[in-house]
Amino acid sequence: MLFTRFTREFGVEHPIVCGGMTAVGRAELIAAVANAGALGFLTALTQGTPEGLAREIARCRTMTDRPFGVNLTILPTIEPVPYAEFRDAIIDCGITIVETAGNDPTPHLPAFAAAGVKVVHKCVSVRHALRAQRSGVAAVSIDGFECAGHPGEDDVPGLVLIPAAADQVGLPIIASGSFADGRGLAAALALGADAINMGTRFMATVEAPIHDNVKRRLVDADERGTDLLYRKFRNTARVARNEISQQIKAIEAQPDSTFADIAHLASGARGRKAAYEDGDPDGGVWTAGQAQGLIHDIPTCAELVSRIVDQAGDVIKGRLGAALNG
Ligand SMILES: Cc1cc2nc3c(=O)[nH]c(=O)nc-3n(C[C@H](O)[C@H](O)[C@H](O)COP(=O)(O)O)c2cc1C
Repeated sequence: MLFTRFTREFGVEHPIVCGGMTAVGRAELIAAVANAGALGFLTALTQGTPEGLAREIARCRTMTDRPFGVNLTILPTIEPVPYAEFRDAIIDCGITIVETAGNDPTPHLPAFAAAGVKVVHKCVSVRHALRAQRSGVAAVSIDGFECAGHPGEDDVPGLVLIPAAADQVGLPIIASGSFADGRGLAAALALGADAINMGTRFMATVEAPIHDNVKRRLVDADERGTDLLYRKFRNTARVARNEISQQIKAIEAQPDSTFADIAHLASGARGRKAAYEDGDPDGGVWTAGQAQGLIHDIPTCAELVSRIVDQAGDVIKGRLGAALNG
């Protein structure tokens, strides 16, 4: 067992988190993560409506008695999203831990605080972590440049970002971005974090509700198997490298190209249908991080979490202890 500020303050057995994942963060996966003794976040917007989210929370509760949370990703969208209604559904359903991401969560914090909900704000820079701390969140999750999804525009990897945050942030810190095994967990604790957050690694588990072909692609890929898209629009996304991501990169590289030139290729709905549902990993854009280089199998969530905790213990007691003792 590993005991950290995170396990104590959040009442979670192991210092391991499964962050919100569009289309992937559904009840099957999040209940399995909870049953493994880690903390998973159902992804609110994936459920379509606040009512859909309430149904998914209820469905998750039929699969686990253990705590789980909800991710609320706050992003500018073309169609307005009823964030306040999603927030109220989270509160009404009795969820006690929320992961916010994207924009500043401050407008939602008073309602969460009044309901006793602890907010973990996920961000990609020390300055945003400090702003979240000033706003009153309970913890920060910090994504290094290696991560899947939106690493921001600063390009600072976790090896620098996590200790830089630990030097300045007084809250529990969850280190995120290409963690996949017990060596990473031990390293995160050494860098000053209190837990690790994983996305890509949890995609390649038995319970992840995506097509097996995508899971196998994650196993087959190595650490170079990602592309950074949309840099030109200052909305960088790290995605699995495939035929579509390469096409988008080529169009983006043309000096006068605009987003309209890639919109049909970049559609998230297209990627989800082609890859996650129909099993064609080259059929559209889908999200994955550099952790692919550390993924060699498709275990259950229970196998994965216990393996990571055991390996972290072995690293701390064995390898690090041996270095100290000579
Ligand atoms: C398929 C996928 C979808 C994701 N969707 C979201 C999302 O909707 N909201 C969010 O806050 N983070 C999202 N993320 C980011 C994860 O929560 C997490 O921060 C990230 O995956 C950590 O990096 P890693 O994949 O290298 O472990 C997504 C990640 C993946 C792999």
